[in-house]
Formats: sequence, structure tokens, C-alpha cells
Amino acid sequence: MSDNKFPHLLSPIKIGPFELKNRIALAPMNETMAGLNGECTMQEVAYYATRAKGGTALITTGAIMATRLGSRFVWGRNMHCFNPGHLQGLGMLTTHIHYFGGLASAQMSMGFGRQGHSYDENELAPAPTAGLPYEAAMNTQTKGLEKVFAKSERARGFLVGQMTREMSISEIRSEQKEYAQSCQLAVIAGFDMIEIHGPHGYLEHEFLSPLSNKRTDMYGGEWRNRKRLINETMEQVRYACPGVAVGVRISAEEHVEGGLTREEMIDLAKDLEARGADFISLSDGGGYEETCHLVGTEEAAAHIPGAGADFKKALKVPVIVASQHDPVKAEADIAAGKFDISAMARQLFADPEYANKLMQGRADEIVRCKRCNMCLMRCLSGITPECPQNPWLGREYADPEYGFGARRKHESILMKGVQNAPMPALERPWWKTEIPLLEEHWRAFRGPGPRK
Ligand SMILES: Cc1cc2nc3c(=O)[nH]c(=O)nc-3n(C[C@H](O)[C@H](O)[C@H](O)COP(=O)(O)O)c2cc1C
Ligand code: SF4
Repeated sequence: MSDNKFPHLLSPIKIGPFELKNRIALAPMNETMAGLNGECTMQEVAYYATRAKGGTALITTGAIMATRLGSRFVWGRNMHCFNPGHLQGLGMLTTHIHYFGGLASAQMSMGFGRQGHSYDENELAPAPTAGLPYEAAMNTQTKGLEKVFAKSERARGFLVGQMTREMSISEIRSEQKEYAQSCQLAVIAGFDMIEIHGPHGYLEHEFLSPLSNKRTDMYGGEWRNRKRLINETMEQVRYACPGVAVGVRISAEEHVEGGLTREEMIDLAKDLEARGADFISLSDGGGYEETCHLVGTEEAAAHIPGAGADFKKALKVPVIVASQHDPVKAEADIAAGKFDISAMARQLFADPEYANKLMQGRADEIVRCKRCNMCLMRCLSGITPECPQNPWLGREYADPEYGFGARRKHESILMKGVQNAPMPALERPWWKTEIPLLEEHWRAFRGPGPRK
């Protein structure tokens, strides 16, 4: 039974060709549950299935590395999607999300740029500009992290970025092409949505910011040029994946002197909408030098709905806003037109049944996240998150509830995105103008034995 206290938060909404059953989304979190080579593990599948079973309408993955180069410079363990071998785990993931009634969104990353770390410290991280590692001061970090930095050398490594090298224009182009192909792979794996990863000082954001982009070519300098990488990427993914919803996650502003302003980010959001974005997802903050807004306290996160209102005034597509954990406030914000969808990260670590509890009139039973960042500390150390509020976090695979059964009526055998519209071929052998589809072109199966 739906609780009438949350008519807006629990109402459906359309994004691109899909309808979300309510306005509650899992915000992307790199939950450090992937395997060594970026494969999606069964623990990861169970973790996401738990949130879908809990009534969350939209399940967004943590940043998935979408190019081979990008995957060599990460922090922790992200999932990968650039090789058909990745389809097996990702396919299991989307099947589970669909089985439990959620829609699956893949957050695809082109790379971490100067915030990336290679296991080989001497390797230069590909970034807009050479010689630009970051160095973060402890006092600009998120509450609660001092303890882990004091104890873990590995976590302390997070405070100093890797030295960078400037990406050439041809390298940018080949990375973009591989990225668009990887988005097609994600659609084949069954994802309903692609979220281009553009916030928090990672590669796409670094091209935008004057603090990290010192180029003098067509990808640097004036604002129009700094927007080029993400605008082109939006156009290419839109072309490559016509049957799914495509959107972008960006920071609402950078919160660092001389960094990106809210006005600039609204201007960018309008560009992205004009290029076919089906949604804009707002997070906040400039990156690792200033994580107070990225994984914020209640006070730091309080202004994001206000930013959402400014973006909403300028856009027609739905605006997703992060970090509004209080359902009463989220309901009021949506009713007041400040944003359309409430995306929560840590809050759904703490209580995956959040949406069900609202729908069943049990709002007072929601277990609230204390924003203590114990989960983040563990992720930064490279291990599976745990939470004092939720004894099951990180070990969902051991709960038989999240195993799935025979195909249900609402699931489709052919991936929904592929059924909506055929994907154009982005790659074919250079000597072929097209790949033949007709039966007469099929090669006869020879069977085993010596060739005649
Ligand atoms: C462990 C952890 C990992 C995160 N990983 C990502 C990520 O991969 N991509 C991203 O866009 N944001 C990431 N975030 C930011 C969250 O999506 C979210 O914006 C932020 O935590 C604020 O929301 P919350 O208060 O509900 O946690 C991460 C946050 C946490 C705590
Ligand atoms: S450990 Fe739990 S309570 Fe603390 S921030 Fe993470 S999710 Fe919230």
C-alpha cells in the first residue's frame, strides 16, 4: 500500500524511452566489489539486486571503466566494460536488477585523468595537461577520513595524484570511439541507460575546468573548447545507442577558487540537452582536493536541491539530485519543482529497503545513514564497504533472498534498449563498406577435420 505522505517521491516519471516506477535512484558508487580485472562479481550482483528488491526504481552502477587506457589508471577496483568478455558478469547484473523490478543504468567513465593511479608509479596518467598531479590537504577532506589516512599507507596514497601527460588529439579521438563502442557493449549487456561520467574532477571534468585544462588547442582555452570533449562524447553516445536513455552526471559547481561556476555548468547542461541528453544528474564538488561536497555532511549537501532548482529552470529533461536522504525533504523538494529524482548513495548502503518502506507506510522504520564515512574509508583502502547501520552491507551474496529464479513476465529476453532501436555499426573491417546480413553471405560450417 502506498503511503500518501509521499505522492511526488513515489510517482512514476519518464526518462527517455523508459518509465521509472518512483523517483528514487541509487546514486553511482564504486563499491570496490569488482574482480581484479574489472569483472562484475557475484557479490556485486547481489549488492545491486538488494537495492532493486528494496523498491529503488533506478539502479546506477559505480563508474565503469569504458576504455582500456582508462582502466589502467583507477583508484580501488572499478568494473570494466570494453571487451566482450565483460558481458557475462554485466549481463548477470542487469538480469538481476530487472528480475527485481528495477531499471539499470551504467555509469561509463573515460578515465580518471590526474585522479587516476597506476600500479606503476612511474607511468604518466593521461590527462588534458601534462605535469598536473593533485595534492590534497587532509583538512579539505571529508569528515571521518583522518583515522583511515593515519592508519593506512594505501589510503594515504589517495592524497597524492600521479604525474600526468597531455593526451594528443588523435588519442582523444580514439578514446572517444572506444568509449562509444563500450557503451554499445553495455546496451548489449542489458543496461537501459547510459550515464556519462562527468563530475568530481575526473577526466571529462578535467577538460572542463580551467584549473586542470591548460591546453592551447581545440580542447582547451576558452569555455567553448573546454566543453568540446564532453559535448562530442554526448553526441557520439547518442548516435551509438539510440534505443536507451543517455544522460550525463556533472558537478553542480566546483567549489574551488577559479573553478567551474554554477552558471557555467547550467550552460553545459543546456548544451548536453540540445545534443540529446535524456537526463542530467547532479552531484557536487571539484574532486579529490575538495571532497567536502562530493561525499558531504548534511550541511554541505543542503544546497544541492537549490542548485537543482536552478538547473531545472533552464532544462526540460528530468534533473536527478544527489544526497537528499530525508524523504520528507525530498518529497517537498520534488513538489516545489527543485528536482525530479532523488538519488542516494550512502543512504542506500545503510538501508536498501528505503523505497519499500515508504511505499508500505513504514517511513519511520528507515535506518538513516549517519554520514560517518566508515564505508568510504574501507573503499579507499580497496576493500568491500561495511556499515555500522547495516550488517548485511558487503556480504549480500550470502543471503539467499537475492538469488533469482525463473524468468518473470516483466522481463524481456532481448535487451530492451536493443529492441527499441538498432545500434549503428561503429566498427567494421577497413576493406568492407558494410557487413552482409543476407544468408547467401554466410560461410558454410566445415566441421572438424583437415581443410580440403
Ligand atoms: C564509496 C563511494 C563511492 C562513490 N563512487 C562514485 C562513482 O563511482 N561515481 C560517481 O559519480 N559518484 C560516486 N560517489 C558519489 C555518490 O554518488 C554521491 O554523489 C555522494 O556520495 C553523495 O550522496 P550520499 O550523501 O547519498 O552519499 C561515491 C560515493 C561513495 C560514498
Ligand atoms: S558507513 Fe553507513 S552510516 Fe556511515 S556513511 Fe557509510 S552508509 Fe552512512
